[in-house]
Amino acid sequence: MSQRKSSEMEGEVFYPSQSVIDQAIVKDWDSLALKASQDLAGFWEEQAEELDWFQKWETVLDDSNKPFYKWFSGARVNIVHNCIDRHLKTFRKNKLALIWESEDGKLERTFSYFSINREVSRMANIIKAMGVVKGDRVTIYMGRIPEIVFAMLACAKIGAIHSVVFGGFSMDALQGRIEDSQSKLIITCDGSYQNGKVVELKRIVDEAMKGCPSAENVIVVRRVGQDVPMEAGRDHWYHDLCSLPIANGKCPTEAMDSEDPLFILYTSGSTGKPKAILHTHGGYMVGTYTTLKYVFDLKDDDRWWCAADPGWITGHSYIVYGPMLNGATTFLFEGGPTYPYPNRWWQCIERYGISVFYTAPTAIRGLMRFGEAWPNKHDLSSLRLLGSVGEPINPEAWRWYYRVIGKDHCPIMDTWWQTETGMFMITPTPTVPLKPGSGTRPFFGQEAEILNDEGEQVADGEEGYLVLLNPWPAMLRGIYGDPDRYVKQYWSKYPGKYMTGDSAKRDKDGYFWIIGRVDDVIKVSGHRLGTAEVESALVSHEAVAEAAAIGLPHEIKGQAIHVFCLLRKGFSPSAELAETLRQHVATHMGPIARPEEVTFVDKLPKTRSGKIMRRVLKARAQGLPEGDISTLEE
Ligand code: PRX
Repeated sequence: MSQRKSSEMEGEVFYPSQSVIDQAIVKDWDSLALKASQDLAGFWEEQAEELDWFQKWETVLDDSNKPFYKWFSGARVNIVHNCIDRHLKTFRKNKLALIWESEDGKLERTFSYFSINREVSRMANIIKAMGVVKGDRVTIYMGRIPEIVFAMLACAKIGAIHSVVFGGFSMDALQGRIEDSQSKLIITCDGSYQNGKVVELKRIVDEAMKGCPSAENVIVVRRVGQDVPMEAGRDHWYHDLCSLPIANGKCPTEAMDSEDPLFILYTSGSTGKPKAILHTHGGYMVGTYTTLKYVFDLKDDDRWWCAADPGWITGHSYIVYGPMLNGATTFLFEGGPTYPYPNRWWQCIERYGISVFYTAPTAIRGLMRFGEAWPNKHDLSSLRLLGSVGEPINPEAWRWYYRVIGKDHCPIMDTWWQTETGMFMITPTPTVPLKPGSGTRPFFGQEAEILNDEGEQVADGEEGYLVLLNPWPAMLRGIYGDPDRYVKQYWSKYPGKYMTGDSAKRDKDGYFWIIGRVDDVIKVSGHRLGTAEVESALVSHEAVAEAAAIGLPHEIKGQAIHVFCLLRKGFSPSAELAETLRQHVATHMGPIARPEEVTFVDKLPKTRSGKIMRRVLKARAQGLPEGDISTLEE
């Protein structure tokens, strides 16, 4: 890539080198974009034709009941058939599907498509033997080990709906999600490793199960080898189940309707409890397959590494489903980037010859702090493309990533998307000129707009609400069990348009620049947390009468949680109480939600109708103008 200074909004533009252009799957972005914009359904139909269907669709896009769109209506399919089964008839049967390395670097496990089929089939048979049938929910709460991938695929294979709960979430968060989804089965492990320490996942499950009558069985995968209590009749060691005759490596893949649920994944919204975002077999399959193929230009000789956790949408779409749909080799790393040393990721890239690497800005900023000497110790020459996701990447981090990791020749795909979108929505492909900090333009067939409160388009360079105009195959099909909330949350501010919850600007080249959330969602290290959840955790403590949570800029995390607490009578502010409350939130929600700072106040700014004005707290904390405060009670 070469760089050219220009007068564009943010200064620099990086152009692809000839070798990037030569190998790119999409060489002519403009023509494909034009074709897709003229015939959205036709574009997606062509993509869908590349996959296997038990029965083809009657309609590509059924928009007869907006916003309840349907994709590939009438088709019969199973995403696992395309992730695994179809590869077994090709040379990919013996290709590596999954490479895994343990946190301490002492263990490596690899699975070909042939062997992953055996593992997934075996787990699918075991799940069936637990009485799980098509449509039942299964909660998966595990560390980053191969079995989490098998568990997800095994559920999908038999038509059960998986609900993965990130292994860093707390007991309360897990319990809420098991209960809300009415899961019949829990799949977990004895524990997981985190920076050399054991997180006792099974014990957390035991606690959570006390309030969850729906869950009848627990499958426990042994990872850390510690003793854990096992309740007879309810808890089963996975390795014991594997020795039963039913646990054989042959299991038919269930033929699903294209619109049948594949998974639910909980994510934070602006109000109340996290919502269960629902995705389906057919459309999600076509969307993740196509976006990964075009954006990361995946070829059979690539080694792909998405360094997210399978428990987030990034992991669902681009560790598990997208790569396997493309028959790729995907790498899963149990640990984090800095344990025991901050070269851990670079070591993995060198050791496994990773060619395409995808991570989040917060990780890049964190690693930048340790200096260039760590990555420079390693041979990173296998890399040809890089990616970023989860929050806006600041140009300084972009440049470091580009220069120090990509050695000035790997384009960075800054992909904007959401749990709800299921797939990349605003993103470059490798030949698109890049501007650090911009995800460039909407993906093929997509259109986005920036609107003001009245629903009018704002001028180029002005900030407004980001909305999406066209449906897309991997779009959420709703909030599980709450169709009204789906309409209200996403489709009512601007009827007929999908409200993203983000603010953004567009420059005169049509490039989009994401600014951040406009609702009460805080992004901490790229993880999505709701102010309402933090506040309800705080008021569950006996000392707190009222609380308000806001996100403030943080150098590494992007945003950090700051909370304001009004104490009950009999309690007085102290450094110890502040620490107790920080810990209390971490215990309730998980360590990622631990507030950065607790401020004790006598009063919270509220509207006359009693709503906390977080905007005012935010402005005050940053010494910024408070804006319109006409609704503030005196
Ligand atoms: O604010 C945007 C931000 O992450 C939000 C979605 O969060 P979540 O559902 O957890 O999914 C994250 C991973 C797909 C968006 O509303 N976001 C995501 N990617 C980017 C981003 N902000 C700026 N640039 C991105 N590339």
